[in-house]
Amino acid sequence: MSATALSKPLNRLHAASRHLGSSRAQNLVKESSQIRSRQLIPSVSTMATSTRQTRAPWRNLLSSHMEQTSGYEFTIGTVGYDENNQPVPRVRTCGCRGFFPEVDIHPKSQEEMKQQVKDGGNPPTYESDLLCFTTDIRMDKLHQLESSGHVVEAIFWLKDLMTQWRVKGKAFSIGDPRGEEFQGEKGSREAIGSSLRVKDDYTGSVEEWTWDRAVTKYFANHSPLARGSFKSPHPGMSRSQEPENSALAMGQRVTDLHDPVARGNFRVVTIIPEEVERLDLSNQEDMRRWKWTLSKSGGKGEQSDWTETELWP
Ligand SMILES: Cc1cc2nc3c(=O)[nH]c(=O)nc-3n(C[C@H](O)[C@H](O)[C@H](O)COP(=O)(O)O)c2cc1C
Repeated sequence: MSATALSKPLNRLHAASRHLGSSRAQNLVKESSQIRSRQLIPSVSTMATSTRQTRAPWRNLLSSHMEQTSGYEFTIGTVGYDENNQPVPRVRTCGCRGFFPEVDIHPKSQEEMKQQVKDGGNPPTYESDLLCFTTDIRMDKLHQLESSGHVVEAIFWLKDLMTQWRVKGKAFSIGDPRGEEFQGEKGSREAIGSSLRVKDDYTGSVEEWTWDRAVTKYFANHSPLARGSFKSPHPGMSRSQEPENSALAMGQRVTDLHDPVARGNFRVVTIIPEEVERLDLSNQEDMRRWKWTLSKSGGKGEQSDWTETELWP
């Protein structure tokens, strides 16, 4: 049996365990883990597969809206703490990199992947409903995520479509060069991994897929100059202060996809959505608003974990 054919029933068992919490379901999951270790399905600690069988009901529409928009920056909101330890909102613009781990990269970057990364990168194994962006670990947002239970809100205003999308959930960053030896990276991989789905048309082995190659592809997708920004002086420090390390300077061009300084600072952040809202202002006489909520307890059957409600705008 192929890995794909096997993983789908296994996903259902995990879903059954989560939804029902029964000892029978838990036994089935235990048996499934034994099957995993015999077959080519990595363990949950390194690569869990999704408890969600199919795409979220809002995912294709958001995808198509993004495709119709020239550039898709979004605003990322996090919670920070002020000097009195009071929670404060913090927002900034980031470039949305689509749904993890699928990224269409520039032919030049693909060529660099071919030359510098085993097999030119991962096979097209997984897809998800997780929007992602890239960042520098030295910026404030990752620290804010860690100190606030990872809560995040992302918002797009797509003016051409007169539509606002809001995605609320938890955000986790990956890309620490220490890999799973570092507890934070391990925890993020587990959280993200449990929301990935094996793609319907993928017939290869899931063992071929690695986290490192996934992150490298996002790094490769930046221009050499943009990659160099990950070895610029510390973001947010006073410009009058000399960089602490002589490797840190402005305007560097990085062609080595494994440049240790740049990769040490580079991270991919993925948002695990829990609530998604679409506000359609295209018809001023009848503005529309929909909310999709991921139920914590789960539901019956496919896609039933997302509940759609139309709201008064
Ligand atoms: C158009 C635009 C795109 C940006 N894209 C990103 C991005 O993808 N990732 C990122 O970390 N910062 C990006 N920034 C910079 C952020 O807005 C922000 O200044 C930086 O991340 C520091 O924020 P922080 O200290 O709150 O983390 C972008 C800014 C602009 C104006």
